[in-house]
Amino acid sequence: MQTPPGRYGPGPCRGGYRLGGIRAHGKKVVNALGNAVKNVDNLSQALSELSNLHAYNLRVDPVNFKLLSQCFQVVLAVHLGKEYSPEIHSAMDKFLAAVASVLAEKYR
Ligand code: HEM
Repeated sequence: MQTPPGRYGPGPCRGGYRLGGIRAHGKKVVNALGNAVKNVDNLSQALSELSNLHAYNLRVDPVNFKLLSQCFQVVLAVHLGKEYSPEIHSAMDKFLAAVASVLAEKYR
């Protein structure tokens, strides 16, 4: 089957994305989270562009921000094991909830 153009580079196409593309996209998302950590006292401003993108252009259903936060936490727990302490878990949960709330704040 022919793969559509774009969607970030090499690898077979799955659901419109090439597999290498999923990794490239994940990197973008995690970089954005890194930027959010650095601006944790001013998330609204730091994530303003992304909030516009997800609300007005992509029209992502906001429930998905919560679901993605859960996915991040499962991955962290699996990889970090005991290092993913209750305190870190709680801090991460709070941080991701704050990010999700900013990304969803432009919806009406
Ligand atoms: C922690 C939450 C999230 C963060 C930090 C985030 C961040 C980003 C970033 C940095 C981009 C790339 C923007 C660009 O290229 O200029 C992006 C694109 C995108 N995001 Fe999100 N995102 C989040 C959640 C979600 C969710 C929950 C969905 C949908 C289920 C979603 C769907 C998309 C789509 C469809 C694109 C465009 C992809 C493309 O251009 O191929 N995002 N997001």
